[in-house]
Amino acid sequence: MTQAGKITTCVFDAYGTLFDVSAAARRAAEAPGQQALAGVWPALSADWRRKQLEYSWLRAVTGDHCSFWQVTQDGLDWAMERHGLDDPELRETLLGLYWELSAYPEVPKLLATLKAQGQTCAILSNGSPDMLEGAVSSAGIEGYLDAVLSVEDVGVFKPARAVYDLVGQRFGTEPGEVLFVSSNGWDAGSAAAYGFHTVWVNRAGEPVDRLPGRPQHVMRDLTTIPELL
Ligand code: LAC
Repeated sequence: MTQAGKITTCVFDAYGTLFDVSAAARRAAEAPGQQALAGVWPALSADWRRKQLEYSWLRAVTGDHCSFWQVTQDGLDWAMERHGLDDPELRETLLGLYWELSAYPEVPKLLATLKAQGQTCAILSNGSPDMLEGAVSSAGIEGYLDAVLSVEDVGVFKPARAVYDLVGQRFGTEPGEVLFVSSNGWDAGSAAAYGFHTVWVNRAGEPVDRLPGRPQHVMRDLTTIPELL
């Protein structure tokens, strides 16, 4: 038990946490005629994600904000060139699939359980509102969410504190009333430093990020989160 009775609000990162970002490249590789992707899609997907995040951090540092959709396209362009994939049609396919990523299988039941426990549930994401709307609706989880909060309201990407401030501004909560859940180690660590209770969903068994804040809980998936409350 984390802080019994104190946590009222569960806030989730979106990409990689609720939505499987590798699904776009995996599904593209499964399509007929995409043999070229068969061996390369895991590395392509990892490079795409890495550059998407790097560009978000760099733009936050330099103050050169753009939409998450822009860094998603820029990251893909870098990754496709790195893997020798000069294929505009494949680019369009991959970008299209990003708007309909699947949720991890445990997500709907988890959100239903948290709502039944009386928790407020929300997403707090770098994603632009239209991207998030697409993913939330294709995963069929809109009915469980009290809010979908986007960095577009503050014009800077995570882990800027202004992004985590959006939760208190929306719900009137103190940081200690919030359980923040992210599969991104840097996001979970930064949210812990901000004052949220945090869960790092470490599906890949990676080392903890060496940042000033450390997540209080580390899990392999989302299934046991209700036990913390
Ligand atoms: C998000 C990215 C960081 O959804 O995954 O905010």
